[in-house]
Amino acid sequence: MTMKASQPIESNGRPQQPSCDGLAGVVAASTALSHVDGAGGELVLKGHRVDSLAPSASFEELIELFLETTDVASRMAGHRTLPPATLDLLEANRDADPMDALRMAVASLASGTESPTSTERTESALRLLAKLPTIVASHHHFSCGRTAGGPSNEPGLAADFLHQLSSDPLAGRSPSPARTRALETYLNTVSDHGMNASTFTARVIISTESDLISAVTGALGALKGPLHGGAPGPALDMVFEIAEPSRARSFLEAKLDRGERLMGFGHRVYKVRDPRADVLAAAAVKLARSGENQELYDLATAVERTALEVLAERKPERRLDTNVEYYTALLLHAIGLNQDQFTPTFAIGRCVGWIAHCFEQLDYGRLIRPESIYVGPPVGSADA
Ligand code: ACO
Repeated sequence: MTMKASQPIESNGRPQQPSCDGLAGVVAASTALSHVDGAGGELVLKGHRVDSLAPSASFEELIELFLETTDVASRMAGHRTLPPATLDLLEANRDADPMDALRMAVASLASGTESPTSTERTESALRLLAKLPTIVASHHHFSCGRTAGGPSNEPGLAADFLHQLSSDPLAGRSPSPARTRALETYLNTVSDHGMNASTFTARVIISTESDLISAVTGALGALKGPLHGGAPGPALDMVFEIAEPSRARSFLEAKLDRGERLMGFGHRVYKVRDPRADVLAAAAVKLARSGENQELYDLATAVERTALEVLAERKPERRLDTNVEYYTALLLHAIGLNQDQFTPTFAIGRCVGWIAHCFEQLDYGRLIRPESIYVGPPVGSADA
């Protein structure tokens, strides 16, 4: 059977596909949750500029804002413990990538009994949010060959997460207020960001009247990729590999020569510096001043300056600026997180946005069902 090409052939032998350009510029929903001004470099979270809200609100206050509810801290505190089946799953998958483990564990929480239109949906959302730090921390301990200590009595989610992650969670040491504040600033900063890939995924799933757990499970899969939430680990690797500012230019040029991308730079929507990078940079400076990370911070800012120069020279037709992931890497490292915990930590923050978008989609949206253009063989040609 011979296939007849119905359109031009590319050099790789495949029929040329018309580009839909990654839906760039396509409006997929209206939302009251966040506004991304790509030309002005501004992010608004429910009427607040990210730089005014993120550094001062607690993560629980942010959840209250997004889910339009109250008493979140006390309502979540009792739901941190994982069901035994989820803990067993994490232990059995101790060697899994932490994002895969988080996806599996979240999927295992599905009860299958809750209708997405139930008035109980906020309660379900808080139960899920409360468990995310325990999932990430438990998997971390299992992967290190330890038993998981389980949730702490810390009053807030950020402090509980840091407490659980510490190598001896049973020792009962509370994280410093500076580290807790820095993590809250991070979680708030990444909580929502317009129609990003993982949020779109969550909205598509919930638009079929599926359930919240399924929507969040799908969104985790979308977040994992290096073009979305998987960039901060490689961004930090790059800074460590450069090791010394004078090596930055040759290292970065060689990377671009090999056709590689510089992680932590460029953005689909921002044509100027990502405003979240400034919020996280300020938080990283604050933390660096109080500890041993000043040297790394200085190196990273030198690497950033050189990367922006090199990108401007090599891609003059594009404005490629620093995105949120570059300073995510620095800040989470300064807080004391391992590299493989960066994307799961991003997921904890972004889950608030996913859930709020799901609720918005259920209340105002319609089944999301775009169309495609057929570029295959003409009818009958495959039989010839
Ligand atoms: N380094 C080098 N070149 C880049 C980079 C980069 N970081 N980003 C884009 N480019 C180049 C591409 O190679 C391409 O060049 P070409 O036209 O000569 O082929 C051009 O810019 C356009 O690239 P696209 O992928 O079409 O641009 P898009 O807007 O879709 O990309 C993205 C956005 C995926 C974030 C991109 O900038 C990138 O890959 N950055 C590195 C990964 C990263 O930092 N991801 C985190 C993003 S933030 C977040 O999701 C939370």
